Amino acid sequence: MSDSKVFLITGSATGLGRALAVKLAERGYRLALVDFNEQAGLETLSLSKERGAEAIFVKADVSREEDVKHYVEKTVEAFGRIDYFANNAGVMVPLRLLHEYELSEYDRVTGVNLKGAFLGLKYVIPVMLAGGGGRIVNTVSSNSFKPTAFNGLYSATKHGLAAMTKSIGQDYQDLNIRAVGVAPNVMNTNIAANAVTTLTEERMAKLGASTGPSLPATPEEIAEVVIFAATTGADMLNGTVVNCAGGEIFQ
Ligand SMILES: NC(=O)c1ccc[n+]([C@@H]2O[C@H](COP(=O)([O-])OP(=O)(O)OC[C@H]3O[C@@H](n4cnc5c(N)ncnc54)[C@H](O)[C@@H]3O)[C@@H](O)[C@H]2O)c1
Repeated sequence: MSDSKVFLITGSATGLGRALAVKLAERGYRLALVDFNEQAGLETLSLSKERGAEAIFVKADVSREEDVKHYVEKTVEAFGRIDYFANNAGVMVPLRLLHEYELSEYDRVTGVNLKGAFLGLKYVIPVMLAGGGGRIVNTVSSNSFKPTAFNGLYSATKHGLAAMTKSIGQDYQDLNIRAVGVAPNVMNTNIAANAVTTLTEERMAKLGASTGPSLPATPEEIAEVVIFAATTGADMLNGTVVNCAGGEIFQ
């Protein structure tokens, strides 16, 4: 079995997760790729293998405990350990005023972004501890600092995940676990495609008026930040959120 480091990525089918997988494949990591989108996930697997990576794909819905147990078990079965965890799967729900949301939308966005992220931590951290430590990057958001207009539920989930990142940074220092949040702002992926369809012209204008200018990011640019946060930067960034807002949010 190769001794190269093992990187587990959820939400690896598209967007940031795929960009990260491709870069890590080129740098010799062994990859466990997780997503509920099997077709696109298998495409990421092919792209990774074409670049020489030893890699597996596991179909899993991160909001289901049984699926999370399964993806962790499959990773350990394939590679024996988990060195790095990109806790990245996430969804947005349509943008609304808070009282307009259905409970089903609350359940969906918290189920993936918060419960799913927690379940990943719950099952990955014991494997890291058994292996002597590990490095975690939680994909949070500029919404961990400031909600974009009409995005209260998504923002609540990303504030919550930022809080978990801080807790890990505080509580696991002597256990050789580190966690960093990486917070994209405007990243060029499809995640928001359905979210803005609920906005009237008036609300769209309010959203525009409440949003400052920023440099947009490609998933590849944010993937570089994730790799730095997981490797060279992990000790000094431990328990913090790396603000990738491209000049819009200053904290
Ligand atoms: N794009 C942005 O502007 C932006 C900004 C801030 C934060 N983010 C965060 O970045 C992360 C990656 O998103 P992205 O922009 O690459 O979008 P994306 O939609 O391309 O990627 C999200 C991935 O998560 C997967 N996923 C969703 N629900 C899942 C579930 N229940 N189980 C397993 N996999 C699931 C999707 O299939 C997809 O592959 C998310 O956590 C998102 O909240 C994105």
